[in-house]
Amino acid sequence: MSTTPLTPDTDTGTDADRRRPDGGRLEGRTVVLIGGGSGIGLRVAHQAVAAGARVVLGGRSPERLAAAAEVLGDAATWHTVDVTDRASLAAFFDRLDRVDHLLTTAGTYQVGPMRELSDEDAESPFVSKFWGQYHAVRFAAPKLTPDASVVLMSGAAGARPPGPAPAYAACNAALEGLARGLAVELAPVRVNVVSPGTVDGHLWEGRPAAAREAAFAQYRRDTLLHRLGSEDEIADTVLFLFANSYMTGSTLYPDGGYTLR
Ligand SMILES: NC(=O)c1ccc[n+]([C@@H]2O[C@H](COP(=O)([O-])OP(=O)(O)OC[C@H]3O[C@@H](n4cnc5c(N)ncnc54)[C@H](OP(=O)(O)O)[C@@H]3O)[C@@H](O)[C@H]2O)c1
Repeated sequence: MSTTPLTPDTDTGTDADRRRPDGGRLEGRTVVLIGGGSGIGLRVAHQAVAAGARVVLGGRSPERLAAAAEVLGDAATWHTVDVTDRASLAAFFDRLDRVDHLLTTAGTYQVGPMRELSDEDAESPFVSKFWGQYHAVRFAAPKLTPDASVVLMSGAAGARPPGPAPAYAACNAALEGLARGLAVELAPVRVNVVSPGTVDGHLWEGRPAAAREAAFAQYRRDTLLHRLGSEDEIADTVLFLFANSYMTGSTLYPDGGYTLR
């Protein structure tokens, strides 16, 4: 009986590459992180640079971006961009030669009950987080390399709303559908979603202490691992989705089991 080798003959990675978590696939690649000046995006930047990538950071505040790039070193550059402004997104991507991986954590929105929010606040997650990411991919598209990948940022509240915030829940669910649609349209470019649970990091540091502590206590109670996530744990998931060449159209939930309960 003949046997078939299990290692594909297209695998040209070295043993040293295979020992690295990203399989050496980010070495020399251009990783664009809109929102990368802080929080999850900044942790992705650190992990990508450690894996040998160049990173391009985007955001609205030049001071935040310059400070992040200074710590990251020569592998990092930055440009200001506002994802709610299409001209600004067009100018941002015009400057780039190529995009190998894209993550947009940018977003500024209000969350709350339908019966309490103004129409403008209720629409804000879609305006900023949904259409912001849609247009970021649209303006990046001409620069995406054939083996590029996009990771969209969602949130576990789309699968299991922790409280009344229906437009925000819908926005996160819609992003999962957007990824499936874009995966079909942009193939062989891969498009996936990361949908984190609550993270003890920069985003929540900026929210009122009482609301933060109440949300954290509820999350610890409701998730299987009884703790919050870290920005690095979410960044690990993003790097996996960047590097794994067979993932597309999928959503991963780094949430400590929150969506199961
Ligand atoms: N942290 C969590 O617990 C958690 C859980 C689930 C999902 N998420 C999702 O993760 C994303 C936030 O990431 P994060 O937690 O790392 O928060 P973060 O630290 O606040 O990061 C958001 C970044 O986006 C930038 N930004 C905001 N609005 C922008 C705009 N209109 N155009 C360009 N840049 C903009 C901000 O910088 P500037 O203000 O300087 O522009 C900031 O650097 C959101 O989509 C959120 O829904 C977070």
